[in-house]
Amino acid sequence: MSGPDALKKAFVKSYGCQMNAYDAARMADVLGGQGYAATDKVEEADVIVLNTCHIREKAAEKVYSELGRLRVLKTERAARGHDTRIVVAGCVAQAEGGEILSRAPAVDVVVGPQSYHRLPDLLARSHRGRVVDTEFPVEDKFDHLPARRSRGVSAFLTVQEGCDKFCAFCVVPYTRGAEVSRSVAAVVAEAEKLALAGVREVTLIGQNVNAYHGDGADGGTAGLPDLIRAVAAIPGIVRIRYTTSHPNDMGADLIRAHAEVPALMPYLHLPVQSGSDRVLAAMNRKHTGDQYRRLIARVRAARPDVALSSDFIVGFPGESDADFSDTMRLVSEIGFESAYSFKYSPRPGTPAAERADAVPEAVMAERLAALQGLLDAQRHAYQRAAVGRTLDVLVEKAGRRPGQVAGKTPHLLAVQFDAPASRIGEVVPVRIVETGSNSLFGAPVPEAAAA
Ligand code: SAH
Ligand code: SF4
Ligand code: F3S
Repeated sequence: MSGPDALKKAFVKSYGCQMNAYDAARMADVLGGQGYAATDKVEEADVIVLNTCHIREKAAEKVYSELGRLRVLKTERAARGHDTRIVVAGCVAQAEGGEILSRAPAVDVVVGPQSYHRLPDLLARSHRGRVVDTEFPVEDKFDHLPARRSRGVSAFLTVQEGCDKFCAFCVVPYTRGAEVSRSVAAVVAEAEKLALAGVREVTLIGQNVNAYHGDGADGGTAGLPDLIRAVAAIPGIVRIRYTTSHPNDMGADLIRAHAEVPALMPYLHLPVQSGSDRVLAAMNRKHTGDQYRRLIARVRAARPDVALSSDFIVGFPGESDADFSDTMRLVSEIGFESAYSFKYSPRPGTPAAERADAVPEAVMAERLAALQGLLDAQRHAYQRAAVGRTLDVLVEKAGRRPGQVAGKTPHLLAVQFDAPASRIGEVVPVRIVETGSNSLFGAPVPEAAAA
């Protein structure tokens, strides 16, 4: 390298879930270790990484249109004498492997979610020919990743990967493989480093995070509640969250942790997918609507102010009007602060994709609109109920307007208020005065008045 012009740059873009976002940040760390500075301008990047998602057809197809544009960019850069390496990582890489090379001629490297620590080697090899690495290697990628550079007040931390549940609609067990948990010691060590770097909130993430079962300190196996308690003991960590959980792994000790661990935030994302027992059975969710209701009642008994969030699929094959009404009824009865809802998308290789009783697109669209209308109304009611209350806000970053900062309440509501940037990283009591479309607006309360 000679002079600043020779500085190599990497552009990393992530689609899909938080685990993919975590992986993308770690890939940037790997490339950073190789001298690549991160850039958000794709046209100046020497390495472009698309960290892809396979969960629904739309998500997967988006990648190919992006790759079409990148092919043009790569040719233009080549004409100016610049090499561009294009990497496809993540779940589409895992699911489609070498097929990506034939569909997208500009791609140099295809790498799966368990092998990206090998990126420097794969990039070097790609100069001799295009490479595909979608193995589930014996070595643990976490042991081979450089120190985390990613900064901020709130950080994701992957503690568990993979899924053994095999819901009939879902590709994750195929793209991410079987459930694997990191040890308590490894997670605590990473969280300690984050805390020293200024992180105050850690979100423990996993495709099935409450199925976590890692090696514990005493030689035994630790569950998610043990891990939460261990992370809560780290100086500097004031908030802990976890996602995504499955209802069937929501044990009594995890529910108790919500009552007993002050740092564990009163927020639970617990996907239910449907309110119909018939559909839940066909989805292989292995619980009923009433079992979910009883579970929520127990969580609310332990932590009455818990905010609930969920995922829903409408139009699973065979879903009738009556089934859909059961979903609407469940949503009305429980009340969610926020939720994600999707039209069913048949995925290659999943059992549900074989079914002949698909729900017509127009019916799916109608149901999705009705469900989202109800969920939006619940979300707005929840936001309005915050007005006039004083809530603790963890300040994460500068706000939209100068002189403002932005942060989150324990219930994960976004709040903007006037305060100097020096308060980033603090938990500030804020009186909520107004709701916006995506954020609440408030005013900081003097400490004495808040007490
Ligand atoms: N592990 C998590 C979520 C994984 S995917 C869990 O068990 O809940 C996130 C969400 O995408 C799922 O909860 C589901 O609502 C949705 N999803 C998954 N596969 C889908 C498909 N084939 N079509 C539509 N939505 C899907
Ligand atoms: Fe997919 Fe079901 Fe596993 Fe969630 S629990 S990742 S929806 S198979
Ligand atoms: Fe998508 Fe893979 Fe996450 S399919 S939702 S990126 S686990």
